Amino acid sequence: MAKLFINNEVKKSTIAPEIYGHFSEHLGRCIYEGLFVGENPDIPNVNGMRKDVVDALREIKIPVLRWPGGCFADEYHWKDGIGPKQGRKKMINTHWGGVVEDNSFGTHEYFELCRQLGCKTYVNMNVGSGTVQEMSEWVEYITFNGVSPMADLRKANGREEPWTLDYVGVGNENWGCGGNMRPQYYADLYRRYQTYVRGYAGASPIRKICCGANVNDYDWTRKVLETCFDHSDPRQHGFMDGLSLHYYTLPETEDDWNHKGSATDFTEEIFYQTLKRSAYMEELITRHGNIMDEFDPDKRIGMMVDEWGIWTDVEPGTNPGFLYQQNTMRDALAAGITLNIFNRHSDRVKMANIAQLVNVLQSVILTEGPKMIKTPTYAVFRMYAAHQGAALLSSELLENGTVGSGKNELAKITESVSEKDGIITITLTNNSPESTEDVEIRLTKGGSACHVKEASVLSGKMNAYNTFENPEEVKEEAFTAFSKTAEGVSLTLPACSVVSIRLSL
Ligand code: AHR
Repeated sequence: MAKLFINNEVKKSTIAPEIYGHFSEHLGRCIYEGLFVGENPDIPNVNGMRKDVVDALREIKIPVLRWPGGCFADEYHWKDGIGPKQGRKKMINTHWGGVVEDNSFGTHEYFELCRQLGCKTYVNMNVGSGTVQEMSEWVEYITFNGVSPMADLRKANGREEPWTLDYVGVGNENWGCGGNMRPQYYADLYRRYQTYVRGYAGASPIRKICCGANVNDYDWTRKVLETCFDHSDPRQHGFMDGLSLHYYTLPETEDDWNHKGSATDFTEEIFYQTLKRSAYMEELITRHGNIMDEFDPDKRIGMMVDEWGIWTDVEPGTNPGFLYQQNTMRDALAAGITLNIFNRHSDRVKMANIAQLVNVLQSVILTEGPKMIKTPTYAVFRMYAAHQGAALLSSELLENGTVGSGKNELAKITESVSEKDGIITITLTNNSPESTEDVEIRLTKGGSACHVKEASVLSGKMNAYNTFENPEEVKEEAFTAFSKTAEGVSLTLPACSVVSIRLSL
């Protein structure tokens, strides 16, 4: 039996709600069809946004939405996406399938979507192929409340009040699709571009995110910080608020992007390999975090893991450029493991955005015409939502076993624990597709009187998934396999499961 010791007398870092953030790019059917259906009378919508999808996303308390890319961001020219729809320029989406982008979803539509979702805004600016002027005018268009060329243009387009711009990304993957830059070169550009992200009087502060590393490129992190982090500048906090990190889990091969593996058809060995690769996030955060600590020991700069998730081959018969993939219990465990890691590193990780929201990569929602299904990953975000804004508690798991073997061996159980308003939320994954696991949970204080307020479980075969014909093959259910003990509770995790249990003291 595993033992989970929780010290509920010491509160650690606050888990930023933004750790449960999402990412939506002009890619495949994410924006168009997945979120935005314009005036399509066959799909219920509010101002063009799908009602079913917005309602489902509100339920998981989506805290922030990154847009418009991704690689698309460094080719996006925002002025093409404002004004009367019939006059908007059409462009080729070179990265994603070479399809025509008609720009019918632009700045106004994005802020309307975020309004409906009730989430924070994160706009990724174009550094790769855009000018400083273009970027600075976009910020002015969005946030300036007064008389200026861009504020007047916004008003002429029907929006009197400015919007709240919470986060700005200064370029995306500038080491790759965002311009193939060297770290020193990008870092100098970052210094220059961020200067013109103006904080206008009366506008709420805009948090600036610098383009960070690809996976384990620690040299990028160091070189960018060497150039951009100024120890002597007391305004450093306004200079850079976040440094991004991108890491995708490729199930089958680490670097052959033509053979990533099927989303639904995989062996037990590939299952363990996938989870082990997801758990690699722990090492990435630790090692990039150690470098950040050298420059920023007070942890004022957040690590923003603004793209993460499983990336498999596309579903057979679908456009390879659209990145449409199914989502199984394996995805749910990968999400559960990763979110537990983010919670446990919430002193440094201040945002994370799973890629991507709808119909692309590890989505929480899939759509087909007017139909919508929630994926197993959706259920995990619902089950973990109570961690948002809660205080991380110190927890230690003893007598934990392992699963898999050799290079694919990983911990059998993962966990994280937080407390908010007197309620302790514990989330656990059982990474074994075959065996249950008993866990005894002990609190340092109040364990004898605590009781289970709510508990739910998601479990199934490792490759079980929902379809439009069978949308509830994998779904969150009430969890009852627990009993009260003298110092807390004990429970039995089903094989291949994610469990959330909430204790009242
Ligand atoms: O999420 C898909 C792509 O992955 C993004 O456009 C890019 O930033 C990353 O390489």
